[in-house]
Amino acid sequence: MGMRVPLIAGNWKMYKTRKEAREFARRFRELYHDTDIRAAIIAPFTQLDVLVETFKGSGIGVGAQNVHFEDEGAFTGEVSVPMLKELGVDYCIVGHSERRQYFGETDETVNLKVKKLLRESDIIPIMCVGEVLAEREAGVQNDVVFRQLEKGLDGLTSEEAGKLVIAYEPVWAIGTGKTATPQQAEEMCAMIRERISEMFGEDTCDKVIIQYGGSVKPENATEIMNMDEIDGSLVGGASLDPEKFMEIIDF
Ligand code: 13P
Repeated sequence: MGMRVPLIAGNWKMYKTRKEAREFARRFRELYHDTDIRAAIIAPFTQLDVLVETFKGSGIGVGAQNVHFEDEGAFTGEVSVPMLKELGVDYCIVGHSERRQYFGETDETVNLKVKKLLRESDIIPIMCVGEVLAEREAGVQNDVVFRQLEKGLDGLTSEEAGKLVIAYEPVWAIGTGKTATPQQAEEMCAMIRERISEMFGEDTCDKVIIQYGGSVKPENATEIMNMDEIDGSLVGGASLDPEKFMEIIDF
């Protein structure tokens, strides 16, 4: 893992009311203790202020699950980077497979969002990449992930790229209980780092955090986190319970 501080982030997806978020945050703050791992909760917009307030001074990060690439405008249902900045969030997921699949997210909009976050805020983009099952079965997973990287990161400077978190989430392993083997995850994370090195240079690729996501739970966190090229994880279902999520961080 070298000089990088690993990041384990819980992606709540569309779960929890504000009340439930407050209960989680109080409990998680009690359980949380300093480790060599950075922890964050990535929540729906309506819970972000609750989490920012409850985690203040704890070192636990907070993130949003999506953002628009314009500052403001007639974009019903969207939230902008200035709006997130005002809340004081640390991270923002961009290009999660569920947004690509159900909400028309493309490599082009991912690129606009990543650039906007990096250029106009201190909010760190967590850019998600990953192939679907048919692509893995056809053996084209590398091509798919490389295309997502090249288009998603198009036009960035090396300095900008060095701030990124990239989450490799094979779509067939999300919410299915089917984890990629640690070797499959390691192999793809290594290839992502190599591609970043080709695109932005070795210094940059040493800085980028590369996470694995897809059915991570307390039972498999150790073998995933012990892989050399994996700097953390993006945890869905298992992050909804404070004890379970803390167990993953304590892997
Ligand atoms: P699960 O951990 O529920 O498989 O979800 C993974 C994910 O999509 C995190 O962003």
